[in-house]
Amino acid sequence: MARVPVIGGNWKMHLDLTEAVALATDVRNRLGSTRGAEVILFPPFPFLKTIADRVEGSSIQVGGQDLHFEKSGAFTGAVTATMLKSVGCSHVLVGHSERRSVFGDTDAVVGRKLLAALDAGLKPVLCIGELLEERKGNQTFQVVARQLQSAIASIPVGRLADLVLAYEPVWAIGTGLTASPEQAQEVHAYIRQKLADLHGASFATATRIQYGGSVKGSNAAGLFTQPDIDGMLVGGASLKGEEFAQIVKARA
Ligand code: 13P
Repeated sequence: MARVPVIGGNWKMHLDLTEAVALATDVRNRLGSTRGAEVILFPPFPFLKTIADRVEGSSIQVGGQDLHFEKSGAFTGAVTATMLKSVGCSHVLVGHSERRSVFGDTDAVVGRKLLAALDAGLKPVLCIGELLEERKGNQTFQVVARQLQSAIASIPVGRLADLVLAYEPVWAIGTGLTASPEQAQEVHAYIRQKLADLHGASFATATRIQYGGSVKGSNAAGLFTQPDIDGMLVGGASLKGEEFAQIVKARA
């Protein structure tokens, strides 16, 4: 079964409103009628509604970069899944390595966030990946297996139809050190096997696994040649409309 490629642009903590609108407009002009691939933008929270309105009526979708697992309450600075939906988000990143390492999100917190997203009808992009010292210590497979298992093992497979995974080796994020296509494929194949172990072969075959970490216009096509790489989660290069479009068009 062919998996529809999915390419995300994670803008992280960049741009002001004017720049964000200009970038979304540029992306819409270049990619707004994309067929054969899904394109999702992840702007900072304050710009979500404006960007969602800007791409409405095109094929481009919008997601939040994070969410809180509670439905409401005294959690200064946090946002809920329902809030994200109400400003036009279809997706949300869950467990991005920067949330795990900078903000201290544990596997348990990531699991609760995933459930909160699913409860609200948001499509989660679950991010997993090993640190440099874990790769050097030959622990890559154990780490991604643990992250996957703790997040999805207890969720009935019927609720996971919209789940997208993103394998983002932390040593490749923002460093210019992209995993080689073969390095990425090795882990993607392992993740797919793990998905099969947890929830069966048809779930594993249907679930899309993005690669993230220093993806650029110049290396996307090589990564896309690999059978288990179904998309990209792009940071820095998604801040340039032309380069982001080049990445999408490497596969669309
Ligand atoms: P870079 O593409 O800047 O390495 O970031 C990857 C990433 O973290 C996307 O979520």
